[in-house]
Amino acid sequence: MPQLENEHLMHVNQIEPTSEYQKNHPSSPILKNFEEYKTLYNESIENPTEFYGRIARKELDWIKDFDVTKYPLTGFNTSWFLNGEINASYNCVDRHAFKNPDKPAIVYEADEPGEGRIVTYGELLAEVSQLAQVLTELGVKKGDTVAVYLPMIPEAIATILAIVRIGAVHSVVFAGFSSGSLRDRINDADSRVVITTDESKRGGKSIETKKIVDEALKECPNVRNVIVVKRTGNKSVPFIEGRDVWYHEELPKYKTYTPPVPVNSEDTLFLLYTSGSTGKPKGIQHTTAGYLLNALLTTKYTFDVNQQDVFFTAGDIGWITGHTYVVYGPLAVGATTVVFEGTPAYPNFSRYWEIVDKYKVTQFYVAPTALRLLKRAGDHFIEKYDLSSLRVLGSVGEPIAAEVWEWYYEKIGRGRCTIQDTYWQTENGSHLIAPLAGITPMKPGSASLPFFGINPAIVDPVSGQELKGNNVEGVLCIKASWPSMTRSIWKDYSRYLDTYFNPYPGYFFTGDGGARDSDGFYWVLGRVDDVVNVSGHRLSTAEIEAAILENPNVAENAVVGFADELTGQAVAAFVSLKRKDLSEDQISLAKKELTQTVRKEIGPFAAPKLVLIVDDLPKTRSGKIMRRILRKVLAHEEDQLGDISTLSNPEAVTQIISSVQATR
Ligand code: PRX
Repeated sequence: MPQLENEHLMHVNQIEPTSEYQKNHPSSPILKNFEEYKTLYNESIENPTEFYGRIARKELDWIKDFDVTKYPLTGFNTSWFLNGEINASYNCVDRHAFKNPDKPAIVYEADEPGEGRIVTYGELLAEVSQLAQVLTELGVKKGDTVAVYLPMIPEAIATILAIVRIGAVHSVVFAGFSSGSLRDRINDADSRVVITTDESKRGGKSIETKKIVDEALKECPNVRNVIVVKRTGNKSVPFIEGRDVWYHEELPKYKTYTPPVPVNSEDTLFLLYTSGSTGKPKGIQHTTAGYLLNALLTTKYTFDVNQQDVFFTAGDIGWITGHTYVVYGPLAVGATTVVFEGTPAYPNFSRYWEIVDKYKVTQFYVAPTALRLLKRAGDHFIEKYDLSSLRVLGSVGEPIAAEVWEWYYEKIGRGRCTIQDTYWQTENGSHLIAPLAGITPMKPGSASLPFFGINPAIVDPVSGQELKGNNVEGVLCIKASWPSMTRSIWKDYSRYLDTYFNPYPGYFFTGDGGARDSDGFYWVLGRVDDVVNVSGHRLSTAEIEAAILENPNVAENAVVGFADELTGQAVAAFVSLKRKDLSEDQISLAKKELTQTVRKEIGPFAAPKLVLIVDDLPKTRSGKIMRRILRKVLAHEEDQLGDISTLSNPEAVTQIISSVQATR
């Protein structure tokens, strides 16, 4: 049995969901007990066709029933619900609007407290229908890609759903990305239409969204039109006649209902770019029925969401969490989703709790980075809030440390709520490993047990063999396909196979280390590739290196992640400049410039926290930069560097150690 390196983590007692949870439940919990989860889980693994066939017919409305649930039956590269026809916007809007048009679909809380509005299912159907016709008029057809560069406003949700209503494909680009990143994503996806705002508002500041789009479009020759949502109304925002159209002027030209276009289950629903080990972002491709089904199921079962609930995912639609748990999951269930434009710190650190009380939020879902910030800000920002509407608290995107988990449980959940630490990725579409609310025992720091249909394997990274039984540690893989698994990387199927299936043949490789403890609970131990996680944002070190190289003064550079109390990981860049004779002042200017370069090339969230100018980077004799050494030095593990005498330049290590020590 392999040694558990992280054994200290795994001696954590299970916390049973409180009996109050069941007692105070406004309707009835989705599952009766843990035994029921186990029965359903076993069925989903042993007989996925029966399980998913039944549940897909029950939960989704089909235009045409599917003929085959899963094909081929074994192995990966599997398609689901073959020959079925469906429309995601129908499932997220029409079917709820028909029954209850006045029910709130979206609760919009603007950046400025007190501003915002409620959009009912009936109003959403009208807005989605009108925008769908605008898109059609602008020449967007089934299968075309539309780029979305929008902040967290109701129009963003309407846009996503209008695109899929006509069978087109959305490619949302996080509105914190720079013009260069936006340009690359527009061109890679071949988007012909872009939807954006004049400006956006965040944390009391205005952001020049449209100007960023205009800059990007200088090098996007195929973009025909830009639809602009008026967010601030600033008159100085550029408007290009003939290309740009106003959202508020176009929509009223069209009737408030247009039928959804039937698409095949396996037609692409959206692309979402994410970072991998190499510099070029990957367009993760999700298909319609499988993604939608798992978005709905995980919302319902992991978070115990029913139609009366108000679900607040404090994530951005620019990332997968926003796609699945702001838009598709809660709306497919028919609940109310909170769309929050601002930040947890504006105008003060009570903002989330104010929103929870104001709208009687029942489920709250956020990344640990925000929790760490709020914990540090002090409990006086929480104490005066009632928070009694909350039933379920979720965590996503990075490991949640035990002390943050406990703080969340006690201070926000007041010991009544359950905590769902959800492990998943852009590629998975929805939760892979997560406790079900009120059902699965919880362990602070563990994402606990797999969701229906997910069969995890801990694999030995050297032999590629699965490590059976409990108390094992290795890399985390999944054994068979599930409906919301990505089907390809856009226009790069061979990269898809190389990234996810070829590293460990027979398994989907997550890129994360993982362990199964003595109770069979799963622990996610962080990325084993060159991906860093800063404030829950997934960044590729290779992409940041490529951005830094854009600066003409740089000879070479290496980027690695290091632990940070607030952001989880932070970015460190070790840079050697072409000129070695710079003064102190020139060096500090060069560092500022390099940070600026990353902000400009990728976006402010990717900027390195630490830039170290060094003469040389440690390399093997074949010229490969030893990033492992840089990581060890940053982690204060200078004594664990191993044999460095085989490097081509061992003296570089000494300089790196002293320059890192000088920063402490
Ligand atoms: O390393 C894992 C980490 O986030 C990565 C996926 O990032 P992304 O595709 O941007 O999706 C984030 C939102 C789902 C994973 O490979 N990660 C995600 N959730 C957890 C996590 N690490 C530990 N615990 C989690 N609950």
